[in-house]
Amino acid sequence: MATDTVLSRAFPLGSRLNERGRLEVGGCDTVELAREFGTPAYVVAEDDLRMRARAFLAAAREAGRPDLQVVFASKAFPCSAALSVFAQEGLWCDAASGGELHLALSAGFAPERIVLHGNAKSEAELRVALGAGVGLIAIDNFDEIERLQRLLADGALGDRGAQPVLVRVNPDVRGETHEKISTGQADSKFGFAMADAAEAIARVSAVAGLALEGLHAHVGSQLLELEPFRREAAQLATLGEFPVWDLGGGLGVQYSEEQPPPPSIEEYVAAVVEAVQSNGVAASTRLMLEPGRALCANAGVTLYTVEGVKQNVSRWVAVDGGMSDNLRPMLYGAVYEAHVADRFGGSSECVLAGKHCESGDVIVRRALLDDPRPGDVIVTPATGAYGHAMANNYNGVPRPPVIFCRDGDARVVVRRESFEDLTARDA
Ligand code: LLP
Repeated sequence: MATDTVLSRAFPLGSRLNERGRLEVGGCDTVELAREFGTPAYVVAEDDLRMRARAFLAAAREAGRPDLQVVFASKAFPCSAALSVFAQEGLWCDAASGGELHLALSAGFAPERIVLHGNAKSEAELRVALGAGVGLIAIDNFDEIERLQRLLADGALGDRGAQPVLVRVNPDVRGETHEKISTGQADSKFGFAMADAAEAIARVSAVAGLALEGLHAHVGSQLLELEPFRREAAQLATLGEFPVWDLGGGLGVQYSEEQPPPPSIEEYVAAVVEAVQSNGVAASTRLMLEPGRALCANAGVTLYTVEGVKQNVSRWVAVDGGMSDNLRPMLYGAVYEAHVADRFGGSSECVLAGKHCESGDVIVRRALLDDPRPGDVIVTPATGAYGHAMANNYNGVPRPPVIFCRDGDARVVVRRESFEDLTARDA
């Protein structure tokens, strides 16, 4: 076994193959983790989360904007332990529903460091946000302005003078990404159309209990080029001067070695700052970015166990998870890589299939594996974002645990679901 095999950039920072040729994440042997905690399991290198959070903050300082606020888009990894890591690291949190707001508050984010998002916020969600005193509400549409007005008239602000808000605009910018995760094009459900932005700004400004701080936009996700962010900044600049600019998230990550590399965190932050400045935005403008996957995707891997191998036209390797723990290949055609956790560097072409009752349940269409056999542990890197977040119980499969690893110590931060959990909500 070649222990000098270079791990792909999709793996968590600090991962390595140990003397036995086994993958180590956060200093923990993944084959032992599989034995101890079972599979499927999400394994997260805690230090990776921290290092990326710090990289964003350092990049902001480096770009001359030490006050830039890094807002973790919690939808990417709505896991209390991860949220509290980011809260400790001094980030803000983007919550896009009442549930995410609850998670953010219970993980220790100060309410004033939370941005409430959503294109269909309910009255109840807005009431909780106003009561909690969230830092910002990004207003998405005219109905929401009216809803907020009603809530303010109803005393939802308590004794606070005004709720700071942003107006979310749809910048009419299309980035190169899967259409289902492209957001900034004119025909999107998110934000005010550019043509309506001036009216939205005027209407929000006229509401006494709302303090309009600035603008928000989000172009899309898994963007591998910086150009769309530049166009976004240029679009926002046409709307006037504001104390706050929140440019959303979207920086792409490395899912597999064959994918073109994303810009680094440093390149991304520098490009955004540059774009803002070149559009004449005042140095005093507070900038915000909302990375989701760029903070957590590469921190996590998923461990599976091979249940069976069969050969027909293709060589099928069936594992004990699939579309219940990673929907991304099925929803977005996302390409992942896979390896046998203790035999990296294989060359037999296999289809890594899940255990679910449909043909679309393929995790990796073309995996190069080393003679996989039942009982082998398979690892897919870059599953730290939108894996746990979108996990489900299709076919009655319990959702996997989340295991944080650091310096060789592993701790379960989300336990595996049990069969009892599957009936726990029966009324
Ligand atoms: N801010 C806003 C307002 C957003 O809507 C999103 C993502 C983000 C920030 C964070 O985007 P990121 O940096 O993670 O790309 N389930 C899909 C991703 C949907 C993202 C939706 N909004 C996936 O698995 O690719």
